[in-house]
Amino acid sequence: MKLFLDTANLADIRWASQAGLIDGVTTNPTLLSQAAGDVDPRDVLKEICSLVDGPVSAEVVAVDAEGMYREGRELAKLADNVVVKIPMIEEGMIAVRRLVADGVRVNVTLCFSSVQCLIAAKAGATYVSPFLGRLDDVGHEGMDVVREARIIFDNYDIETEILAASIRHPRHVAEAALIGADVATMPTEVLKKLLLHPLTDRGLDRFLNDWSKLASRAKVNA
Ligand code: E4P
Repeated sequence: MKLFLDTANLADIRWASQAGLIDGVTTNPTLLSQAAGDVDPRDVLKEICSLVDGPVSAEVVAVDAEGMYREGRELAKLADNVVVKIPMIEEGMIAVRRLVADGVRVNVTLCFSSVQCLIAAKAGATYVSPFLGRLDDVGHEGMDVVREARIIFDNYDIETEILAASIRHPRHVAEAALIGADVATMPTEVLKKLLLHPLTDRGLDRFLNDWSKLASRAKVNA
């Protein structure tokens, strides 16, 4: 499973990319508004694209088909690795078809059911993004959407990639991987947690302690 970082924070992207931990980045208007300050968000997106050797999702803010299409074309010009993010609405599906016909890769975002994922795939999306955490927040089982979408896509050999989004904790990542999601996108804080286990720290402390005891005995004996 590929791992994407869900952020527009340049320092975080630089770190994760240099550490070889990520295959791509997803952004959204909220993340860009948090990270960009007074800087033109297109400049931030260009910088992100230069830092990452993989797809970078950049979202349109228009909500009519023509506006989304035009904005998508502009975003796609920022860099070769831009993937245009289009919301899962009726007008959006028209924009997806037009962008795909022009050779632009599209990530359909804000998917909350497996049939929305199916519709987005039929429109030609390269990625569909079911939002797990936001479904969990309202008492649903977000992972069920990934599970159903995986079965549907496999039943019909649909190549659209399932991008598990709105990930809140490492268990979400493990379950998405077990189900067979193609990608999981997560905030930096979750990516860092994937590296951690308290028994690893405890085990290392003990090894180092025992080694220093041995080292001081060996010195005494020498
Ligand atoms: C995905 O592409 C979205 O940017 C993101 O995963 C949304 O996550 P949130 O629900 O934590 O805002």
